[in-house]
Amino acid sequence: MKSFGLSLILMVLVLYGCSKSEGQLLFERTCAVCHGLSGKGDGFYAKKLNIKPADLTSETIQNKSDADLKKIILEGKPETAMSPHQLSLEELNSLVKFIRTFAPAR
Ligand code: HEC
Repeated sequence: MKSFGLSLILMVLVLYGCSKSEGQLLFERTCAVCHGLSGKGDGFYAKKLNIKPADLTSETIQNKSDADLKKIILEGKPETAMSPHQLSLEELNSLVKFIRTFAPAR
């Protein structure tokens, strides 16, 4: 009975995981510690940083082109905790697609 409950929990977790896009999974794994799960820049590390992680839901960020966002992610931002991330083009594309879901409704 106990293991039945456990497999049920595991199944739900797996299904939940599968319902997320590659971009979201990647974001939660590599970016959310700083930028927060909802992209607002309120991740776990944010309070430890002098220069706060960017609010990815903001217009400033959303107004950047896809190419700009990919460049920032790949190269990082000097003098900040935003370090370069070595990702494939496919990963970059799915990440940027997910970041676009943070755009405020206009
Ligand atoms: C260790 C913390 C940390 C992690 C991890 C991190 N960032 Fe950042 N990010 C920052 C900080 C700090 C800034 C700088 C904000 C500023 O310059 O005002 C930033 C800036 C940015 C910017 C805006 C850059 C600009 O030109 O203003 C984008 C877009 C961004 N991050 C996306 C991401 C993505 C996508 C990931 C995951 C692949 C990620 N970040 C991972 C801390 C982090």
